[in-house]
Amino acid sequence: MTVTNKKLLVRPATHADAGPLIGVLAEAFHEGPVADWLIPDPDERRTVFYRYFTDALHHALEHGQVHTTADQMAVAIWYPRLEPTPTDTRSRLEALERIAGAYAPKFVLLEETFGALQPDDPHHYLAYLAVDPTCQNRGIGAALLAEHHRRLDDLGLPAYLEASNMRNRRLYLRLGYTAGHTITLSAHGPTIWRMWRGAPTTSGRTPFPHPRPRRRSL
Ligand SMILES: CC(C)(COP(=O)(O)OP(=O)(O)OC[C@H]1O[C@@H](n2cnc3c(N)ncnc32)[C@H](O)[C@@H]1OP(=O)(O)O)[C@@H](O)C(=O)NCCC(=O)NCCS
Repeated sequence: MTVTNKKLLVRPATHADAGPLIGVLAEAFHEGPVADWLIPDPDERRTVFYRYFTDALHHALEHGQVHTTADQMAVAIWYPRLEPTPTDTRSRLEALERIAGAYAPKFVLLEETFGALQPDDPHHYLAYLAVDPTCQNRGIGAALLAEHHRRLDDLGLPAYLEASNMRNRRLYLRLGYTAGHTITLSAHGPTIWRMWRGAPTTSGRTPFPHPRPRRRSL
């Protein structure tokens, strides 16, 4: 059951929060179809995920907006995408090879696919939302997003994300997102849902923009 968590204190994260938040990300994303597909062996997955999320969190603290709770048990990573963002392809490839070793090709496919399907319309991108597995289903994830959604509504900006399973997809639908075309990463890969929360208008929310797929190679 979803509990509305009205008293949750949400604040911007700093580098001092990195240790606990990397743990929250690595542990929250450890289970699920995308995790199983990326690295089937759970022990190897844990090792690589801690490296991957160390890189992701530090990148976000420098270039994005990171929100956490007073107890550091949850984290949301947003990137304002108000204009096209160039990717340094070569250095990203090298980073993924350093981080994921033999598993790098799947991480490259994942990031390349997500990058190619980003909507062109200005929006904020929710790259990651994670609640520590010991604290899930208490309304924390929803509360962490509520504050930023309010801010986006005030600014007249949409939000975009990829939902990695049916369960979190359900949460996003409840929070005002609509599901777009699905993404299938490979023949036996997991299904992922592109989701869009339009900007508020007098007659509802702006609709999901049609995807204009473009190749963006890492
Ligand atoms: C998804 C997640 C951020 C939600 O935060 P939360 O505090 O647990 O969620 P809330 O209590 O606010 O809302 C509950 C809803 O979250 C979703 N949810 C809860 N636990 C989940 C889990 N382990 N995996 C996926 N979705 C989950 C469900 O939709 C649930 O509603 P339900 O009662 O209909 O099943 C959190 O569960 C999590 O970190 N899950 C693992 C990582 C993940 O899937 N992140 C989102 C990537 S797109």
